[in-house]
Amino acid sequence: MRIAEQLIESLRTADRVTMLTGAGLSAESGLATFRGKATSIWENFNPMDVATPHAFEQDPELVWGWYEWRRMQAMRAQPNDGHRAITALQGKLRQLSLVTQNVDDLHERAGSHFVRHLHGTLQHPRCAACGQPHEFPSSEIPNEPAAGRRIEPPRCTRCGSRVRPGVVWFGESIPRREWEAAEQSARLCDVFFCVGTSGLVEPAASLVHFAREEGALTVQINTESTGLEDRLSYDLRGSAGIILPELVCRL
Ligand code: OAD
Ligand code: ZN
Repeated sequence: MRIAEQLIESLRTADRVTMLTGAGLSAESGLATFRGKATSIWENFNPMDVATPHAFEQDPELVWGWYEWRRMQAMRAQPNDGHRAITALQGKLRQLSLVTQNVDDLHERAGSHFVRHLHGTLQHPRCAACGQPHEFPSSEIPNEPAAGRRIEPPRCTRCGSRVRPGVVWFGESIPRREWEAAEQSARLCDVFFCVGTSGLVEPAASLVHFAREEGALTVQINTESTGLEDRLSYDLRGSAGIILPELVCRL
């Protein structure tokens, strides 16, 4: 992959860079993406059965067990060269705002700071009734992931209601503070990156529009074409784990 010198120059002089990441970034850590492959999550599970408030009301054990399965996978996964390169970019660029749709904590474990999680995180569940955060034991050792196992959700220590996964479900809104910060960083940046995301899920998919509307350069890093191409200044086709480290080297 040839990265244009003009893009490198724009990054060197940029005051603010914003990056939106998606499941493709964690694919090289062994975590499944949502779409596009036989092993993808939504090829194998119906989101309506596991990722809506209604699904949790109907079958809390199924939904909790499914997210525990994903949490165990995420805990056993390691950050990859793409995550590490983003941390290096946070050190090299004047300002890099990092916004992710991923619910794993691989950005943080790679050392990145101030990560905006638009779709919540697997590690921070809360009470379904009163919102009290639920803490997993810090000494926890991840179990062998087992898909489809039903697990009774823990109970809130304050009100006794069920604890729910700390993710954003279909039909729910992105937490307002996260969204406002993400929108602002898209509108104010000089360069906006979409990394490993299909750009199909709103409102996250609109961020690249906002950036472009305000005159930012827009860059995609993806192994495939996504349909965002007509909104891009640079389309870097290839894996995030190779292209991002190359960007770091060139800066
Ligand atoms: P998707 O699974 O929709 O898209 C993953 C993208 O990553 C695809 O465009 C792939 O081509 C690309 N890709 C795969 N491997 C890659 C690699 N090694 N390097 C670069 N790109 C790669 O995942 P998202 O766009 O993150 O939301 O999905 C958005 C949201 O849809 C998720 O956060 C989730 C899902 O429903 C909720 O559950 C609320
Ligand atoms: Zn409670």
